[in-house]
Amino acid sequence: MSRALRSVGSVLVFAILVPVTTLEVVRAACFGAFSQTCWNASLNTSSGVFTAYCLDENDSSTQSTVNLNDHVANIDGALDCNRNGGDFLLTCTAVSLLTANRLMATCLDALGDFAAPSSLDLNPCISNSNGFLKWSCLDSV
Ligand SMILES: *[C@@H]1O[C@H](CO)[C@@H](O)[C@H](O)[C@H]1NC(C)=O
Ligand SMILES: *[C@@H]1O[C@H](CO)[C@@H](O)[C@H](O)[C@H]1NC(C)=O
Ligand SMILES: *[C@@H]1O[C@H](CO)[C@@H](O)[C@H](O)[C@H]1NC(C)=O
Repeated sequence: MSRALRSVGSVLVFAILVPVTTLEVVRAACFGAFSQTCWNASLNTSSGVFTAYCLDENDSSTQSTVNLNDHVANIDGALDCNRNGGDFLLTCTAVSLLTANRLMATCLDALGDFAAPSSLDLNPCISNSNGFLKWSCLDSV
């Protein structure tokens, strides 16, 4: 609740102080969508470290990382990003980054069998926070 109120506050400040650019809209909406303002995304498939360059408010770029293993989980064979989950690397194999924002892996289901390859759009759960990759809008499970 208080976090929600704080974001509303910063959105209002932004709206007053700076002209609205794509970056501002993406940030204010909190729908993630990092790939609209970040590039050269790469994934270390053994550690889960995801790296990209993102534009900040001054149009300069910074390289930053998030570890996908922190919030990407294997839910019965399907990749999902959420607040409580993570550790997909423990039960998934053939991990790859198909595009800047699409993660692929083949994961064990609840019965211990490999499910069909699963693909996850990372855009809803990672945003560009003034030049830095940041988890955002995560659901709880
Ligand atoms: C992005 O990747 C390309 C190809 O690997 C490289 O030439 C370019 O320098 C990279 N851009 C940045 C900002 O690192
Ligand atoms: C990927 O992560 C592993 C484990 O942390 C590390 O040993 C390896 O050097 C990393 N690879 C690259 C290309 O950074
Ligand atoms: C952008 O530039 C302003 C004015 O120079 C500076 O105060 C601010 O810290 C810069 N923002 C970033 C993210 O570097």
